Amino acid sequence: MKRLLFMRSCSRLLVRLGLLGLIGTARITLAATTTPSPEAESEATVRLLGHGINLANALEAPREGQWGVTLRDSYFLAVQQAGFTTVRVPIRWSAHAAITAPYAIDPAFWLRIDWVVAEAKKHHLQVILDFQNYDELYLEPEKHEDRFLGIWREVAEHYRTEPSSVLFELLNEPHKQLDAEKWNALLAKALGVIRPTNPQRLIVVGPASWNKISALPLLVLPTEDRFLVASVHYYDPMTFTHQGAPWEKTSLDWLGTEWLGTPADRQVVDRDFDQARNWGSEHHRPMLLGEFGTYEKADMDSRQRWTNYVARSAEAHGMAWAYWEFCASFGAYDSSIDAWRQPLIEALKP
Ligand code: GLC
Repeated sequence: MKRLLFMRSCSRLLVRLGLLGLIGTARITLAATTTPSPEAESEATVRLLGHGINLANALEAPREGQWGVTLRDSYFLAVQQAGFTTVRVPIRWSAHAAITAPYAIDPAFWLRIDWVVAEAKKHHLQVILDFQNYDELYLEPEKHEDRFLGIWREVAEHYRTEPSSVLFELLNEPHKQLDAEKWNALLAKALGVIRPTNPQRLIVVGPASWNKISALPLLVLPTEDRFLVASVHYYDPMTFTHQGAPWEKTSLDWLGTEWLGTPADRQVVDRDFDQARNWGSEHHRPMLLGEFGTYEKADMDSRQRWTNYVARSAEAHGMAWAYWEFCASFGAYDSSIDAWRQPLIEALKP
């Protein structure tokens, strides 16, 4: 309504100015005042993504189910009903594509991801299709570059007509041989193969070195591409969040580490997120905290305190967020009884 009234008063103004022979100048002035600033665009993207959760340990396993999670339609409903606005879905595309060009993706896998996209749309969730665990690419980036780009070309073509609620994430946590310099070059090439079919799709990109905030200064995004979201992951202190996690070598020594949320503890989180926010403002990019969470071996009181503090601090720093993760070992949801773990879901609620 307000918009309509505004349009009407604008057209009335235009008629008057036109009579004065100033119509050309007025159009330019109006266009200039109605184009949103980069800050307003970033804020709108952050609002759109809002609060999300990672539907993890399913499609980024070598085969879905191998890591204990097979996605069900009831999960999307549970996520929607809990008030989340986004699901981030890690996908190991590389395990379902041919080894030789044009790297055809397995038809059965397309059907599975199409189902994910359909479920997300049905439940009014933004969905981030995140390319995860291309382990060979991290080790030998040059050797796997063509295949990585070929897979993206296919995914981009396949989902080109999807609504803007479908987002792509180029690659989860580049690391090992895929250092900042190589990643910057590769991400630009990946955007180069996606943009012809998806000129305005939001694409999520994080820095090398595991998407750490401290690695943001080395991330280079093509300035002319205005449809990018910068993403970081947060698991500090690792000795607390990853205690007992089998994939961290010394994590057994960390068992029993609490997070009390002292002023000093909180200051660390805020200082880290200040860095993320400052980078976002400097580069005019919306920021997403794409992963943060605690492994199940930490005590629940500490997990609740940390989760709550990190989520609130991310919000206060103008970042959208997505909790790691839904129903595996960091899970906020217990799929064996189909119920949220109350301390964690409470902690996540804004
Ligand atoms: C990264 C890894 C994932 C792991 C998570 C927490 O996203 O890809 O496998 O569970 O971080 O450590």
